Amino acid sequence: MSTLQAVRYSRGKLEVLDQLRLPHEFHYDDVSTRQEAFDSIATMRVRGAPAIAIVASLGLAVELYKGPVPGNTSQQVIAHIDEALDYLKQSRPTAVDLTNAITQLKARIRSSGETKESVIDGFISEAEQIFEKDLKTNLAIGDYGAEWLKAQVGATSDNTASVLTHCNTGSLATSGHGTALGIIRTLQANGQLRHAFCTETRPYNQGSRLTAFELVHEGIPSTLITDSMAASLFRTKKAEKNIAAVIVGADRVVRNGDTANKIGTYQLAVLAKAHGIKFMVAAPTTSIDLETETGDGIKIEERKREELTQVTGAVIKDDGSVDESSKVRIATADQRIDVWNPAFDVTPAELIDAVVTEKGAVEKGTDGKFDFRNIVPERW
Ligand code: MRU
Repeated sequence: MSTLQAVRYSRGKLEVLDQLRLPHEFHYDDVSTRQEAFDSIATMRVRGAPAIAIVASLGLAVELYKGPVPGNTSQQVIAHIDEALDYLKQSRPTAVDLTNAITQLKARIRSSGETKESVIDGFISEAEQIFEKDLKTNLAIGDYGAEWLKAQVGATSDNTASVLTHCNTGSLATSGHGTALGIIRTLQANGQLRHAFCTETRPYNQGSRLTAFELVHEGIPSTLITDSMAASLFRTKKAEKNIAAVIVGADRVVRNGDTANKIGTYQLAVLAKAHGIKFMVAAPTTSIDLETETGDGIKIEERKREELTQVTGAVIKDDGSVDESSKVRIATADQRIDVWNPAFDVTPAELIDAVVTEKGAVEKGTDGKFDFRNIVPERW
């Protein structure tokens, strides 16, 4: 079984899987400039908080590697890179991983020596490290998440649990394995998974287009539901529908634990609480934002109306394959209707049972508050 890869990279070459074409078509775009990286992210050909940071960092790394880079002094090159990073930061506003990567990259180029070449080399090495570290991070999140869940559901006769996830947080949203979906992968590898449910995740359908694809690709026992079926599922509590935990990713976890994630996450947390189901956020420390005190300070991206009023369709042939030549935009609503399309919502910390990072699971203290001091002491 081939591993799904959102990003393929070797020094001087970055290829990004066009996720808008999934699950029907597998096509990689070459990304070799900051504009191409920006465009891939803004149009959501690549999406998911860690993958956004990786593509922005590596896209600029390729541009710098290929050159020519204007300026002769290290200071001129630092100014050039700063400007490019500030531009890339505007691509999507809610996920904080890109901002954290930019802070890291800016610090690195300032300590990379006195020559133009050393600054460029420093940037490229740091971008590559961000990419490489992400996979290790996700594997660790998988282990900590599986361990945390085991402690919660240890009482079941066979130690397995059914879970629900939302949006896509798998290999397609990261450098590999994934965060929330990574925990599901690890549960499956450990024999701890009974069944995985994934939501469709309207309006962009990251669940049905991407997560369902990843689950099927890996042979994980799984079922797709629409977002509006979650309450009924939670109430069922029979056989594989007895959901032990909701596991979601994060675009930004702020200082008090409030978490921005894909629109629809908040309602799942409310429903989980009402049905006695654990609610777990899986987030690398790069998704933690200590600069922002509460969820009220998070900027929520609003996207274009067409995501609600139109879909892309294609004819399915008798053999089940897609007729590429038949691609059309289909109206799903009156095109004149007013639309509100926030891409994310904020789940209040009180609804979250654990934030699982690559450094361990964090639960609320006796004061009912999250404290990330031990997880990111260097940023506290
Ligand atoms: O709009 P998207 O597809 O970029 O939203 C993605 C999510 O909300 C994910 O849950 C989050 O980025 C975590 S990905 C590991």
